[in-house]
Amino acid sequence: MTQTDPIPTDLIADWHTLHRVFIRPEDENSRQTLVKYMEQILFGLHDFLNTHVGVTQAIPLAKLAQSYTDTTINLHPEKKLADVIKDIINEIAPRAVNVASPYFIGHMTSAIPFFMVHLKAIAAALNQNLIKLETSKVLSVLEKQVLAKMHRMIYDKPLTFYDAHVQNVDTCLGLFTNGGTTANITALWVARNLCFPCAKGFTSVEENGMPAAMKAHDLDRLVVLVSERGHFSLQKAGGILGIGNKNIIPVEVDADHRIDMIKLEQLVQDLSRTKRTKIAAIVGIAGATETGSIDPLPQMALLCKKHGIHFHVDAAWGGPVLLSEKYRSLLAGIQEADSVTIDCHKQFYMPMSAGMVYFKDPGALDQIVYHAGYVNRKGSVDLGIKTLEGSREASSLILDSALKIMGSRGYALMIEHGIETTRLFARKITAREKFQLVTDPVLNILTYRAVPKKLGRQLTAPDLSLSRRQHLDACLDDINTNLQRIQREAGKSFVSRTCLKICPADTHKGVVLRSVIMNPYTTDKILDQILDEQEAILDTLDIFDQDVEDQEILDQKVPDQEQYKS
Ligand SMILES: Cc1ncc(COP(=O)(O)O)c(C=O)c1O
Repeated sequence: MTQTDPIPTDLIADWHTLHRVFIRPEDENSRQTLVKYMEQILFGLHDFLNTHVGVTQAIPLAKLAQSYTDTTINLHPEKKLADVIKDIINEIAPRAVNVASPYFIGHMTSAIPFFMVHLKAIAAALNQNLIKLETSKVLSVLEKQVLAKMHRMIYDKPLTFYDAHVQNVDTCLGLFTNGGTTANITALWVARNLCFPCAKGFTSVEENGMPAAMKAHDLDRLVVLVSERGHFSLQKAGGILGIGNKNIIPVEVDADHRIDMIKLEQLVQDLSRTKRTKIAAIVGIAGATETGSIDPLPQMALLCKKHGIHFHVDAAWGGPVLLSEKYRSLLAGIQEADSVTIDCHKQFYMPMSAGMVYFKDPGALDQIVYHAGYVNRKGSVDLGIKTLEGSREASSLILDSALKIMGSRGYALMIEHGIETTRLFARKITAREKFQLVTDPVLNILTYRAVPKKLGRQLTAPDLSLSRRQHLDACLDDINTNLQRIQREAGKSFVSRTCLKICPADTHKGVVLRSVIMNPYTTDKILDQILDEQEAILDTLDIFDQDVEDQEILDQKVPDQEQYKS
């Protein structure tokens, strides 16, 4: 529309239009259109996505960005709701990523059961705010009940414990958060505060701040220990909590990417000797982001107990495995944790975004109580007094309903499918000459890389010099980076990539392909197709698959990095 075009009468921002837009669909026609689209979204989600969205459309991001440079907010409405929805379906959805595709096996975000969209819509329609009873009422008590159910899944305390705490207004078994990051921050927030009981005129770290807390407790340094596979949210926690992210100390892992207990014990001993350093927490990982590995939780729990250290388990990914009788034992030891993170939008298959954090001690969250005169007054029973977030949606309603619809067995079936399909994928990778399995799956995550035959041969040559090895490593990194990028850009299927030491003794971190299988529709045949596609791409990169005896020739054959930037 140009400046001189008259404004259509139904697209004017006045009280009449506002009234119409705010309380109901504009007219019968729009109503029909809306119902049609909502029906498509609510009941035909899988068909809808499969028809409208590939894994992703092959448009470069820079080109897409050119279409999104208009910074004007129109004075009057531009479109009716039905037209806006039409635009989203026609223009946004095809260019988004179809995470629901069974060929999308690269990240922790995947298909969700179709009913989740209904539940999310209901949560939005109710628009309850869990910060406060005054804006949530029954949802607040429902939240406490769901928290107790999850606590029981983790800690399995006697029923009398849950009877005493499920609706206890003075205690709190856990919290719903915005995701795993805020859950981890909350856990370390509590752990940090527990390090600083009141002393020598000092009240609390919350009130007096970190410098005063350190001074009152004769400390120079607070640290958190976690394996080098720890999620970067822990570093954020270090920064936010004044611990310093360099004091989130990475501990080396063993060949299975689990924290090296000998190194951890040695580090604890060394740090304990330094009287002015305190270990605020040790974090065990139950489902590492890159490899899916699970730390030796029972041994870590024992070590923490011995030294009186807060033991946090980051089970953002692996937590729901507890619902599978078949694989629950993989998480043995989690019940010893002082706090546990579990994400809802990962293996509870909930839509973005929700997480949870649990505490063994129902009084632990008293460490981070905040009040405000207009909502969470002193003596308030609102969970909002203990959450990092202020306003929060009713995620508990979605989880509770999903548990009712699926049952723990329903979730277990999905979890078991993920683990077993990933094991199958590992076998397929091992059976193909051009691939090397890098990390064997414990859960439903594995890593591997393409190693063209002749490069592989040269890598294992007995007289390989260091510089030659470095050069071959760089070639393999290029191949795998390009392989992943080309497959992603082709848009038919998707695996992600990361960097890992291929062998524990390596100094170099090689580029590896990472697969996360959680879509129940990802089948044996699909996995073959994904590997076939990768082999076909490798053939187009066959400049690497030659006998390269001469370093200079090899140098010429490494593609220009700029050319392949993703
Ligand atoms: C082990 C682990 N912890 C924490 C997080 C952070 O979770 P979120 O992305 O929900 O903040 C992730 C996310 O991938 C994770 O894998």
